[in-house]
Amino acid sequence: MLDNDADTPSNSSENPHFAEVVARRAASRRDFLAGGTAAGLAGAVGLFAVTEEATAQALGQGNGVAARRAPRLEYAFSPVQVNRLDQVSVPPGYTARAFLPWGTPITGSYPPFVPDGSNTGADQEQQVGQHHDGMHYFPIAPGMIGNRAGLLCVNHEYIQQDTLLPNGPTLAGGRRTVEDEVRKEIAAHGVSVVEIFRDERSREWKVARSRYNRRITGATPMEITGPVRGSRWVQTKYSPTGTRVRGTLNNCAHGYTPWGTYLTCEENWAGYFVSKATPLPRELARFGVPNTNGRYRWEEIPGDAYERFDATPVAGATAAQDYRNEPNGFGWVVEIDPFAPRSVPKKRTALGRFAHEGAWFAPAVPGRPLVVYMGDDSQNEYIYKFVTRERYNPARTNGDCLDDGVLYVARFADDGSGEWLALDYADADFRAAAAARGVSFESQADVLVNTRLAADVVGATKMDRPEWAAVHPVTREVYITLTNNAARAAGATDAANPRGPNPFGHIVRWRELGQRSDARRFNWEIFVLAGPESDSAVLGAGGGAVPALDASNRFASPDGLWIDQFGTLWIQTDMSGSQLNAGPFGNNAMLVADPDTGLIKRFFTGVPGCEVTGVVSTPSGRTLFANLQHPGEQGALLPGSKWSSSWPDGGLARPRSAVVVMTKDDGGIVGS
Ligand code: FEO
Ligand code: CA
Ligand code: CA
Ligand code: CA
Repeated sequence: MLDNDADTPSNSSENPHFAEVVARRAASRRDFLAGGTAAGLAGAVGLFAVTEEATAQALGQGNGVAARRAPRLEYAFSPVQVNRLDQVSVPPGYTARAFLPWGTPITGSYPPFVPDGSNTGADQEQQVGQHHDGMHYFPIAPGMIGNRAGLLCVNHEYIQQDTLLPNGPTLAGGRRTVEDEVRKEIAAHGVSVVEIFRDERSREWKVARSRYNRRITGATPMEITGPVRGSRWVQTKYSPTGTRVRGTLNNCAHGYTPWGTYLTCEENWAGYFVSKATPLPRELARFGVPNTNGRYRWEEIPGDAYERFDATPVAGATAAQDYRNEPNGFGWVVEIDPFAPRSVPKKRTALGRFAHEGAWFAPAVPGRPLVVYMGDDSQNEYIYKFVTRERYNPARTNGDCLDDGVLYVARFADDGSGEWLALDYADADFRAAAAARGVSFESQADVLVNTRLAADVVGATKMDRPEWAAVHPVTREVYITLTNNAARAAGATDAANPRGPNPFGHIVRWRELGQRSDARRFNWEIFVLAGPESDSAVLGAGGGAVPALDASNRFASPDGLWIDQFGTLWIQTDMSGSQLNAGPFGNNAMLVADPDTGLIKRFFTGVPGCEVTGVVSTPSGRTLFANLQHPGEQGALLPGSKWSSSWPDGGLARPRSAVVVMTKDDGGIVGS
């Protein structure tokens, strides 16, 4: 079966020096703290020692709501133990229920889900897609009602053909021939927007038959905005003017804007296309567009809707007459207004083109530029941030501010400092750096289409697969998961990526100079090196202690990350291969972490084969939503089944990705 990510190696070479690396970083904690100018925040009592009032004010921006109080949580639950059960686990006193599994009807004629995979492509266009990933909850209204009803936006990263279709793809002579199968596969990608509400009698969350409900798929028309709009790289037969493109693909993580829209991010899009051009143009080659066939062979079905996935230039044609540029319409951050169901999604090209994991805003400050952090999840790729030209005005700012600004890439120095390097065609230093490497760009559109190449020439730091980021709403400190890196050679480590290879991953955090998110310099440290007891470390409060992980919290391959309105850092894991199926970590999990004390505790475990990804709560924190993606995709098969899991339906049912709704039985804050 197809694993969407780069393979995770199963064997780790024991390296006794990892804890030393963290200890060294801890020793330099004073320097780290010195990076902030607000003395009150940088006191000896800890980085996050802020007043409750300040916390409450800042947290108002965290989840689209004003938190009146930000109680310090005790995390008093009993940690969930490592297990390989085919059921989800939460601590005693909590309840977890599956919700919105793949196939749930949400719009149109609400076609019922058929469990044997025989729903049509047209059905799938009205049902929840497969492989849930990033997700956000938009309260339907301010105040208490927002805790009971909201719009849930859920990404559908990729598909599993053996569960989606009755018997997997039909092939004749090795080629796809059945159009409706491919129509269904394209429809199972994208985003679901669905109004949900909590039924006060049953206390269960349900789908509302709402005008907001919408499926956005791999075929939905979208607009290209920003510097790449209208440029020669995005002219196609479908859009000779280079202003439109069909669909969004491989929507991994996400973001949400201060003006209440949803961002969905295109990650491993390159594999959906094929180009037999020789040589491959750099804007395809640097992202790994294959030259034999697309990952699902969609290009083999006759018709413009499918042939577009073959980007091989047609002899004698211009770019406006074929699909050589179709892949250039992908690799972007896409903005969707969930409250405007007829709006056309916008590909915001100023934020760069790469394997976008997600896009996370720093807290918005009126009168200051807006700042968005982003990771490029591939081995040895980079961390980026985008700074808007516009200064934030809560009454006026909208998504158009994302079309004009400066894209930066991060360089992490071994001394704990860091620098943001502009990828800006208007910047003479940037053009000189490119020229020195023998690379030339002809415009900012060229720079953005080739973002990885631009980052290469300025000397950005190659990271261990940057996944999710989270920005603390009070301190503005940024956390990012580096999930693992099988490709880092032992001799190619640096202080920010200290293991070569890195099978278990780590979490780095940084603070921008002067606590200004748009600063050009920052100070960083490693918050946790994930792994087993013998090979892990956590940076505790004050930088003194360097404890290892233990049975209550050991984890590997961190991926999803979110700091909620109470300052809790939620960590989700995405192990695969033998690390998932035979390692000491059990099924993938979700943990809570206290960024201040370094406390980490396992709160939730998923089912065999799945990753845990996507996390958000209602404003009250009393309902928490997380996703299980690709349950049953790998691992030991259930007796009599083709899969290792039958979650959530049980028996011999085919497994389905779904949302997990978590509540505390006494009605309290989840995780408290
Ligand atoms: Fe789709 Fe990087 O996880
Ligand atoms: Ca994954
Ligand atoms: Ca991910
Ligand atoms: Ca991952």
